[in-house]
Amino acid sequence: MQKLEVIGGKKISGTIVISGSKNATLPILASTILTNKKITINNIPVVRDVETMAELLKTIGSNVKFDRKKKKIEIYNKKPLKTFAPYYLLKTMRAGVLVLGALLAKYRIAKVSLPGGCAIGSRPIDLHLDALKKMGAKIKIKDGYVHASATKGLRGSNIKFSKISVGATENILIAACFASGESKLRNCAIEPEVEDLIIFLKKIGCKIKRIGKRSLNVLGTNKLKSTTHKVIFDRIEAGTYIIAAALTKGHLKIKNINPKIILTEIKLLNKMGVKITKKKDHIIVNRTESLKNINIVTKPYPGFPTDLQAQIMILMTKADGISTIQENIFENRFMHVSELRRMGAKIEIKGNKAKVFGKSKLNGAELMATDLRASVCLVLAGLIPSSKTIINRIYHLDRGYEKIEKKLLKCGAQIRRLR
Ligand code: EPZ
Repeated sequence: MQKLEVIGGKKISGTIVISGSKNATLPILASTILTNKKITINNIPVVRDVETMAELLKTIGSNVKFDRKKKKIEIYNKKPLKTFAPYYLLKTMRAGVLVLGALLAKYRIAKVSLPGGCAIGSRPIDLHLDALKKMGAKIKIKDGYVHASATKGLRGSNIKFSKISVGATENILIAACFASGESKLRNCAIEPEVEDLIIFLKKIGCKIKRIGKRSLNVLGTNKLKSTTHKVIFDRIEAGTYIIAAALTKGHLKIKNINPKIILTEIKLLNKMGVKITKKKDHIIVNRTESLKNINIVTKPYPGFPTDLQAQIMILMTKADGISTIQENIFENRFMHVSELRRMGAKIEIKGNKAKVFGKSKLNGAELMATDLRASVCLVLAGLIPSSKTIINRIYHLDRGYEKIEKKLLKCGAQIRRLR
């Protein structure tokens, strides 16, 4: 089991180039099931979840060429695909459920493993399944699998999601692109990753119209074409490194991003006293003065992202006074708190609210990562004390952060992977 060793007390300064978004890449890869034309996707992050999704596509017969050096994936579905997504692949990557909509729409049948829960919550897929049923699918849950069929093909329908869900929006959008007739999707998620999927789907010929902030009209078609697409940057990775620089009073240039996409995060960090200069495709992070406390509520985009909640909590431990976080998206997303307490952080949890006492002195400790974003929060925490921090189970980290040690080492961190 690999570990990371971090010895903190160093400023994170220099330049970091942000990778492509894992959460945009995964639905885009899943949607390639719809087409049998040549697809090239660039700016792919070489991370474990993308490897797993590529593996899943290969398992069902897709012709996948992953050029890791060029961060490029070429997909070409020459022959009909299998319609079975096995548990051993979905157990580590919940986003595998995103192939359900595509397989059902294209092949009228699919057997996809239930993704199962994870550290941050039960992660149900009822919104996905209810919508597919409305589109004419027969759905049965048996032996941990979703058995879905639509003998006459999926039909366009009016779907209003009862709550905002990134995955359900993506799954149903992909299905609607190939269903017969028009679908009107309402109360959709509008995360930049969903927007990037829409851009990709339109490029392969799908007929999608945004008729309101969270309203999409889709006209199903089977006339799809080849395309090349560059995946959007990873805004959560960018936010993570902004916080790393703020934590260590570094001076950091963060490249390959569009600052307009992360305005909420920039505004909140400015309020805490982090100076962020915005340029067209990069930002400069600088922190000189002390940090002010702040109150944060996680919300669907464009609100403060739940995927940055653990990371900002670390920054709050350095601020003056008490800060609070209200986690509104997932029911169990404070798993990192017990580990931070072992470093000396003073944090009180009541339901979905965290109270973070500032100016707490953190000491190095041996820690356990529990999920992707909690693990990166422990790496950030390790950047603070000049003593040693060891982070176990860093396979969580490798699911979504490309070359994190390399990027931090280059900016002055003392960090290494212990085999
Ligand atoms: C996506 O997960 C992201 N994953 C998550 O990032 C992210 O935290 C989340 O969106 C919220 O932004 C990918 O894009 C691969 P949801 P997803 O459906 O689609 C409930 C990371 O670290 N819900 O928007 O699973 C659900 O339980 C990951 O990269 C239902 O009740 O999230 C949650 O409370 C973690 N029924 C809320 O909706 C459903 O059918 C939002 O979940 C689906 C979701």
